[in-house]
Amino acid sequence: MSHEFNAKSWLIPDGSQKGLSTIVCARTGAGKTEWVKRMLFDGYKDPASAYHRTIFISPKQEDILGAPVVSDPRALQKSLEKNSIVSYHPIDAEYYDEDVDSVIETVFDLKAEIPTIKDDKGVEREMSYHIIIDDCQILNGFDSRRSPSSSVKKLIIAGRSKLVKSTMIIHRFAALPRVTNGNCSDLVALNVSSIDMDVTKRLFGVDFEPIMEDLVDYRWVYVDLLQNNPTPVKYAPVMLVGS
Ligand SMILES: Nc1ncnc2c1ncn2[C@@H]1O[C@H](COP(=O)(O)OP(=O)(O)OP(=O)(O)O)[C@@H](O)[C@H]1O
Ligand SMILES: [Mg+2]
Repeated sequence: MSHEFNAKSWLIPDGSQKGLSTIVCARTGAGKTEWVKRMLFDGYKDPASAYHRTIFISPKQEDILGAPVVSDPRALQKSLEKNSIVSYHPIDAEYYDEDVDSVIETVFDLKAEIPTIKDDKGVEREMSYHIIIDDCQILNGFDSRRSPSSSVKKLIIAGRSKLVKSTMIIHRFAALPRVTNGNCSDLVALNVSSIDMDVTKRLFGVDFEPIMEDLVDYRWVYVDLLQNNPTPVKYAPVMLVGS
C-alpha cells in the first residue's frame, strides 16, 4: 500500500480508515491555506468528485478557488445543492465555535436527508462531504484546558461512517484536543515549530527531528498514520493555484 499523498483520497472519503481526520499544521504564513487550495483543485479533477461537496470554513474570510460565500446554515444548505465547494465565512470570529458547530450539524442533517443522488444513468451514488476548518487555534474547544464541542467530537468520531470527512488546519500540534488521538488518518506539516516535536512523538509516534531543516520555503511532509511505523514523506512546495 502506498503511503504517499493523494489529493483524491484526501478529498473524497470512501468509508475506509482514510476518511478519518487530516491535520494540517504549520506556523503562521507557512503555506497551509495555499496547500489546501491546491489539493482541492487537484482532487476535484477526479470524476468521483461529482458526488462530493466541500465546505471550507474561513474565519479570515479568504477566497477559496472562487467558491460562493455563505454566512448562515440555511444559505449553506441551499448553496450545497448547486456548488461543489462552498466557503463559509463566520461574521464574527468571536463566535467561531458556534459557526463551526452549525456547519457540522447542517452537513450531518443534509447527509441524513439526502444520502444518495442519481447519476445521469440513474445509478444511486452516495453523497460525501468534507468540512475543512481553517485556523482551528482560535476555537475555544481547541484550547488544551477545554474540550471541543459535541458537534466537533461527532465530526471527528462519527464522520467516517457517514462519509463526512474533516481537515483541521492549525498552528501547533500541541493545541489538538485529545479526541483527535487515534482518530486521525494522516498529518500534513509545513514549517512547524520545534517545540512541537515532543508532541508529535508522543501523540502520533512520528519523529520530526530529522526533517525539521527540510521544512522551509513551503516544503511539506505527509505522514500516513495508518501504517505501522509512520514515516514522513517529503514533498516540494505546491504550485500556487492560478500561477
Ligand atoms: N507553495 C507556495 N509557493 C510560493 N508561495 C507560497 C506557497 N505557499 C504559500 N505561499 C505564500 O505565502 C503566503 C501565505 O500562505 P498561506 O496563507 O497559505 O499561509 P498560512 O499558513 O495559511 O498562514 P496563516 O497561518 O496566517 O493562515 C501566500 O499568500 C503566498 O504568498
Ligand atoms: Mg491560512
